Amino acid sequence: MTKLGILISSARPNRVGEKVARWVADAASDQFEIDLIDLREIALPSFDEPESPKSGADKTTDHGRTWGERIGALDAVVILTPQYNGSYPGALKNAIDFLYAEWRGLPTALIGYGWGAASEVLPQLEALMVRLDADVIAGIGLGFREDLSVEGELFVTQEKSAALRDALVAIEQKVLTPVA
Ligand SMILES: Cc1cc2nc3c(=O)[nH]c(=O)nc-3n(C[C@H](O)[C@H](O)[C@H](O)COP(=O)(O)O)c2cc1C
Repeated sequence: MTKLGILISSARPNRVGEKVARWVADAASDQFEIDLIDLREIALPSFDEPESPKSGADKTTDHGRTWGERIGALDAVVILTPQYNGSYPGALKNAIDFLYAEWRGLPTALIGYGWGAASEVLPQLEALMVRLDADVIAGIGLGFREDLSVEGELFVTQEKSAALRDALVAIEQKVLTPVA
């Protein structure tokens, strides 16, 4: 079964991210083995490896190795991001910066949530993941008022629910028929 990571990048006690993760997991659990990846639990320190991950150098820290193995074991990932001051949380950038080869070619869907359907954060996260050569398949923006309440009650539009289903189908196809 295809292993799909669902990455929660916010850490607030009352975070909406967990509810968005459940929405994705409910849509994906029949089709995928889910690894729910919670950056709050992983609690990486600020990037502290001596070399750039792009160098291919072995990790020197236990947390760097463990994080690399967690992402390296995935066939695909859905990254959830809130919009914080028009961008993604610092913890997400840090977690992404820790790795390089693990993101390369990884089928990746991005789901942002916030005001204005997360239209500020999604292009930024897409640019970051494209820079790392991830295979970005979809970007879906959930908006307060039209798709969810600020407390995290989800009433996602049919159009966006369909976009999620399409993204999951596209991920499965990518994993089953990778480009040589
Ligand atoms: C520090 C901070 C900055 C925020 N900045 C924005 C913003 O620029 N745009 C926006 O749409 N929402 C913004 N919000 C609202 C968040 O998108 C909203 O609280 C969301 O639920 C946060 O995700 P979380 O609940 O998973 O932590 C901000 C919230 C916080 C805590």
